[in-house]
Amino acid sequence: MDTHDSKATQLTRAQAYELSEDVPTNRSTQPTIGDVINARLGRRDMMRGALAVSAMAAIGGAATMGTSRHAYAQAGSSFDFEELTAGVDADHHVASGYTANVLIRWGDPVVPGAPDFDPAAQTADAQELQFGYNNDYLGYLPLPAGGNSADHGLLVVNHEYTNEELMFPGLGRQDRDAEFAGMTAELVGVEMAAHGLSVVEVTRDDSGNWTYNPASTYNRRISPRSTEITLSGPVAGNPRVQTSADPSGTTVIGTINNCAGGLTPWGTVLTAEENFHGYFMGEAAEDSPEFRNHERYGVPGGWYAWGRYEDRFDVGREPNEPNRFGWMVEVNPYDPNSTPIKRTAMGRAKHEGAGLVVNGDGHVVAYMGDDQRFDYIYKFVSNGTFDPSAGTDNGALLDDGTLYVARFNEDGTVDWLPLVFGQGPLTEANGFTSQADVLIETRIAADLLGATPMDRPEDIDVHPTNGRIYAMLTNNTRRDANDLNAANPRPENAGGHIIEIVERDSDYTATQSDWSILVLAGDPGAPEVGAMWNDATTENGWFIAPDNCAIDGQGRLWVTTDGNNYEASGRTDGVWSMETDGDLRGTGKLFYRVPVGAEMCGPMFTPDDTSLFVAVQHPADGGDEWPGFGRTSVYEDPSTRWPDFDDNMPPRPSVVVITRDGGGPIASS
Ligand code: FEO
Ligand code: CA
Ligand code: CA
Repeated sequence: MDTHDSKATQLTRAQAYELSEDVPTNRSTQPTIGDVINARLGRRDMMRGALAVSAMAAIGGAATMGTSRHAYAQAGSSFDFEELTAGVDADHHVASGYTANVLIRWGDPVVPGAPDFDPAAQTADAQELQFGYNNDYLGYLPLPAGGNSADHGLLVVNHEYTNEELMFPGLGRQDRDAEFAGMTAELVGVEMAAHGLSVVEVTRDDSGNWTYNPASTYNRRISPRSTEITLSGPVAGNPRVQTSADPSGTTVIGTINNCAGGLTPWGTVLTAEENFHGYFMGEAAEDSPEFRNHERYGVPGGWYAWGRYEDRFDVGREPNEPNRFGWMVEVNPYDPNSTPIKRTAMGRAKHEGAGLVVNGDGHVVAYMGDDQRFDYIYKFVSNGTFDPSAGTDNGALLDDGTLYVARFNEDGTVDWLPLVFGQGPLTEANGFTSQADVLIETRIAADLLGATPMDRPEDIDVHPTNGRIYAMLTNNTRRDANDLNAANPRPENAGGHIIEIVERDSDYTATQSDWSILVLAGDPGAPEVGAMWNDATTENGWFIAPDNCAIDGQGRLWVTTDGNNYEASGRTDGVWSMETDGDLRGTGKLFYRVPVGAEMCGPMFTPDDTSLFVAVQHPADGGDEWPGFGRTSVYEDPSTRWPDFDDNMPPRPSVVVITRDGGGPIASS
């Protein structure tokens, strides 16, 4: 197939994604707009807007931004900390007065009996017992279950993907153009075992230090090599999810490319299957009933060699296997023997994550982004209602409900369009014979409904009471002037933006909501970027590529990024606080930054806001574009050996826990 990732040679996985072809969407049907865009910016009269920023740049640019720093401490700020200086080096950094410690690293023992980490001689069986690669989503669940402990809990960790050039000695970057020449069956086994999830028990001692317990019976690895996962909801058992290995269409081995996720109100975790297409190779016949489906989801992506050794990842052999991925997967970390469940009623997409909330009337609502250029934002509303006494049985709520996709209107409203078989265009005339078909081909159904194509919808987080929802949009350099819409107003959007959705009367089940843009990310000192920040934002406080987010116990928004770099921002990824109210609305402030080449994932606070867990993903990946790091970053010569700085140890994706020196809630006085 020449429509996917045809130029992967010597590219990092992220660069391959950037170059990959788009899949067809309905974007050409969207209205073009002009002045309306500007009307949507600064809608709450709380932003000065792009024009003000540009004018400011004209009279002094970044220097002006910098001198506003002392004005920063002005009354009205929700965040009390001294801003960190943006930049890049081999280490991570946190704001003064805080400590950032590594809690667990790739290769550390998770399941009792795990061997010591030996990166020069890694095996699949060892990796399956050890902490996986590229930690992404982090879920903290208090122990005991149902409690509120902020110093004892379970940490659930997604392992999104692998970087073979940084994991294995003597390999370099592998790609399909060179037929993954170095990828043996054993190395593919290590890669597979390094995917999935980890669950570890974590404790904070009296002096405030967090550790994980390698002997805990809660500890667990979930991997695409071995873990059985149940398909539930309308798609379970459907002929389109039946395969040679699973003729019943009910049990999938594993979950892949688990990106972000979300906590449920009943003490489980939803983990999101994102770029599942990348794991498939081979060719499905053009007359295959799955051809249009594969095309829309970019299957096969050809990012990995797995299909050479596992028939199910070769779509020529198992054309239905891709239909068993792309789901939201529920995991109960309190029961290490529980079988995870793929909740198909929530739709099939390149799911970034899920922001869940219990509506006032008990319906459970989940907001979800489909992370691809020109794809959509969804919400799921359960038919049943949450029963606090039912425990994990509440998970069945996620099997029965209505999935909606968002259409952002120019007048500042959002319509949530139901994806229901038999309604509107979702009929046999358009290739759907059941709700299962609508869910398997969620994207195609959403195209037909006229959803708004977005600039890579990522994490969405929900304020638990005030009706506000924050959606991160990472970037979309493919959007041109003819593709603009009110909610995605910039061509060649390299900076990304953040949209605020407000559910009227805090009714999260509503089918119409209101929206506005919180920030247009990018360099406020470069007028051509068209960034929009509150002008209290300093030269360290702006960023590009908002990706994951968290709302802390005080209702404050925190943003982490994926894509800051030398050329566009001169800074690494990190954690920024983000004002959402008052005169400072739209002000960013840098709190933590990662080592060269890394991406910032997984922000998760303890219930009392005294600890912030973050995931440092792929340190040393693609660090070669930075001055001073000018080389292809590989196992033998990485751009950083964070966190160990040991010449015999490669860089290691790690979970970091941030606490305030002397204790107390983060960024609070
Ligand atoms: Fe895995 Fe959309 O980031
Ligand atoms: Ca993400
Ligand atoms: Ca990410």
